[in-house]
Amino acid sequence: MTTSISIPSACDFHLHLRQGEMMKMVTPQVASGGVSLAYIMPNLQPPITNTDMALKYKAELEALAPQVTFYMTFGRSTEGKQSRYRRCQVVSSGVTTNSDAGIENYEIYYPVFQAMEEEGMVLNLHGEIPSDHQKNICVMNAEEKFLPQLEKIHNAFPKLKIVLEHATSEAAVNMVKRLGDTVACSITVHHLQLIVDDWAGQAHHFCKPVAKYPQDRQALREVVASGRVSTGTDVRLFCIGHPRFFLGTDSAPHPSHVKETAHAHAGVFTTPLVLPYLAKIFESMGSLDKLENFACHFGRQFYGLKQKDGFEDLKVTLVKEENVVVPASYQVSNENPEAGAVVPFLANKDIGWKISQ
Ligand code: NCD
Ligand code: DOR
Repeated sequence: MTTSISIPSACDFHLHLRQGEMMKMVTPQVASGGVSLAYIMPNLQPPITNTDMALKYKAELEALAPQVTFYMTFGRSTEGKQSRYRRCQVVSSGVTTNSDAGIENYEIYYPVFQAMEEEGMVLNLHGEIPSDHQKNICVMNAEEKFLPQLEKIHNAFPKLKIVLEHATSEAAVNMVKRLGDTVACSITVHHLQLIVDDWAGQAHHFCKPVAKYPQDRQALREVVASGRVSTGTDVRLFCIGHPRFFLGTDSAPHPSHVKETAHAHAGVFTTPLVLPYLAKIFESMGSLDKLENFACHFGRQFYGLKQKDGFEDLKVTLVKEENVVVPASYQVSNENPEAGAVVPFLANKDIGWKISQ
């Protein structure tokens, strides 16, 4: 029986670190979770929409976590070629926290997508369309109904690298596999664990996109644990998993007073324990050997990104142990009790794995 594994520190390709007091609490936790490269979401108030804002935000994050390499994104970029920044995140309108400024009609962005394709930039899509009850569109099929749009953008820009963010459905897995080498998926920790029964009535498991049917979770699990053999020259590709399906936690902290309420905010907080959670989940799938590619290599390969100099070789050792109980909550601020506390994923549960110091 495996009792310890040693892997490179992980890369999180979809992370919400917030601002103000919440940012100060959450950002130092990135390294605690075993992550040293993080791709930061722009849905602040106001949203990050240009390079100057992204650089300023990046400097704040670096001051809080100097050992982490941060890659910044901005929402609905219209800067195209002029931008020093190479990533662009686009969210559909009205479906997630602070996404009122999101996008409805993608065709008006085709000139931007074209510039991004020419520059080798990556387009990140939050792939859900807003609910429309006349058309039988609701949170359970919002992702699946978005997929034709993904295919359309891909067909218009076949060389544009696109990441379908936080995929939750069998339909998405199949579509991304089919679209080929320029289209990839990030997958969260919690969507490998949860289904609809786990969030209906349980606010701390409620996130967007919502966790779906058992067969959807099964599809996510199968693709990250699959035995695909690539013809590439990189030795890791001969191993396991699928090189276009990689970790993006979508860890999204909200204080418990906006979760445990009549209208719960969407988001699951996994940052402080990313790798221990994954070790638990991959072990339960009998696939611990697939964790490293999923969490450490495939995302970086798809994006073609490096760690900061001097931080390429950080290692993390995960140890299997009894009584590794997830904290009940994380206080947002020691000085300001009114800021509340964030309840993490699997609070108070024994997850059986920890990072050895
Ligand atoms: C930029 C990049 O490579 O995308 N870095 C970053 O997002 N952390 C480059 C830059 O503008 O410095
Ligand atoms: O559950 C979510 N919460 N999904 C998102 O896409 C956004 C996030 C947030 O920022 O709270």
